Amino acid sequence: MILLPIRRLLSYDCGRLFIKARKVTILLLTLFFVFSILRIITQHYRTTTSTTLNSTEPLWNLIEYQYGNIHFDDHDGTKNETGFDVSIVPDIVHYIQLKNPYLEFVTLISIMSTLRHHRPRLLLIHSDRKVLRGKYWDQVKQLNKTQTYTIIRLNHIKQPKYIFGKKLSSVYHASDIVRLRVLQQFGGIYLDNDVYVVRSLHRFRVFEFAIGWPEDQFLGTQVLICHRNARFLKLWYESYREYKPTLWYYNAGELPTTKFLEKQPNLVHREKIQFGVHYLVDMLYEEQNPFWDKMYYAIHMLARHRSHSDGIVYFNEDNIKDYNRTFGQMARLAYYGSKNILK
Ligand SMILES: *[C@@H]1O[C@H](CO)[C@@H](O)[C@H](O)[C@H]1NC(C)=O
Ligand SMILES: *[C@@H]1O[C@H](CO)[C@@H](O)[C@H](O)[C@H]1NC(C)=O
Ligand SMILES: *[C@@H]1O[C@H](CO)[C@@H](O)[C@H](O)[C@H]1NC(C)=O
Ligand SMILES: *[C@@H]1O[C@H](CO)[C@@H](O)[C@H](O)[C@H]1NC(C)=O
Repeated sequence: MILLPIRRLLSYDCGRLFIKARKVTILLLTLFFVFSILRIITQHYRTTTSTTLNSTEPLWNLIEYQYGNIHFDDHDGTKNETGFDVSIVPDIVHYIQLKNPYLEFVTLISIMSTLRHHRPRLLLIHSDRKVLRGKYWDQVKQLNKTQTYTIIRLNHIKQPKYIFGKKLSSVYHASDIVRLRVLQQFGGIYLDNDVYVVRSLHRFRVFEFAIGWPEDQFLGTQVLICHRNARFLKLWYESYREYKPTLWYYNAGELPTTKFLEKQPNLVHREKIQFGVHYLVDMLYEEQNPFWDKMYYAIHMLARHRSHSDGIVYFNEDNIKDYNRTFGQMARLAYYGSKNILK
C-alpha cells in the first residue's frame, strides 16, 4: 500500500488521497505500537533472566545448610537485636568481579583477610568473565589448593544490562543488581572487592539481614549478610522499579534507607560502626591506628579514595612490607601473616 507508485497516487482526487493518508497513518501507528510492546516484553525477559544463576549446578551440595526455606514475618519485632538461635545464613562469602578479568592486589588482600579471619565454607566469585587472569588471580587459585577448608569457586554470570526494562547506566549499578540477585538465590555474606575482614563474621549469621548503616547516613552496600528470603532484600530489589540511572547512590543507598529502613528499622540488624563502611581513609592511610583490629569486624578499604600523600600509586606485595600506616599492618597480616614491618 505504501509502495503505490507516486504517479498513480497523484492521479487520485483529494478525497481519496486523504483516505489513503489516513490508512497509512493508522498502519504506521499500529506498527509503532506493536514494536513498543515487543520492546517492553524483550526487555522484561532480559531483566528477569539475564543473571539467573545456574541453579541446577550443585553448588548447594558443597555446604551443609538446612535453613534455606525460612519465611520471615513481623511477629517478633526484636529478632533484629537477638537473632535466631542458630545460624540461618549459609556460610558462603560472595564477591563480584564484572568486566575486568584482572584481580587487583587489594582484592587479593580482601580475599586473604576473609580466608584468614572468617574462614567460610564456600567462597564464590561471581563474574561475567569465563576466566580470570593475572598473578593475583593465580595466587587465589593457589590458595584454593593449599588450604582445604574453604572451597573457592568462580561462578559465571551475565552482566545485567537492564533492570525492570530500564537500561543500567554503569557497571557499578550492574554490580548493585548482581549482589541483590546473588543474595536472593543463595543468601550469605556479600563483600565488596575492597573490604577487609578483621574478625570472623559468623556471629552475624543469626540475623535475617545484618548491614552497615552509619549514624545519619544512608546504608552501606559493601558488607551485606542475609538470608535469601530476607524481607528487606526483596523490598530493596523491587524498589529498582523506580530506578534512576543518573543518580549514583539513589537506588543502592538513599531509596532503600528512606523508604524502608527508616520506617521499619527492625527489618535489619544495624551496625553503625563495626562493619567499617563509613569514611575511614584517614585512619587507614594517614596514621598508624593500633585499635583497628579491636574496633571493627570489617573495614571498607576505600583504596580509590585516598590522597596518595604517601607517594604510592598502587599497592603491591612489595611496597606493603614497610608501609607504616594502618593499612600496612592490615595488608601484611593478611598477606604475610604478621603485622610487623618487614624490611
Ligand atoms: C547448569 O549446570 C549443569 C551442571 O554443571 C550443567 O550440566 C548445565 O548445562 C548448566 N545449565 C546451563 C543453562 O548453563
Ligand atoms: C578450587 O578447587 C576445586 C576442587 O579442586 C575446583 O573444583 C575449583 O574449580 C577450584 N577453584 C578455582 C577458583 O580454581
Ligand atoms: C531493631 O529494630 C528496632 C525497631 O524495632 C530498632 O529501634 C533497633 O535499632 C534495631 N536494632 C538493631 C541492632 O538494628
Ligand atoms: C612513617 O615513617 C616516616 C619516616 O620514618 C615518618 O616520618 C612518618 O611519621 C611515619 N608515619 C606514621 C604514620 O607513622
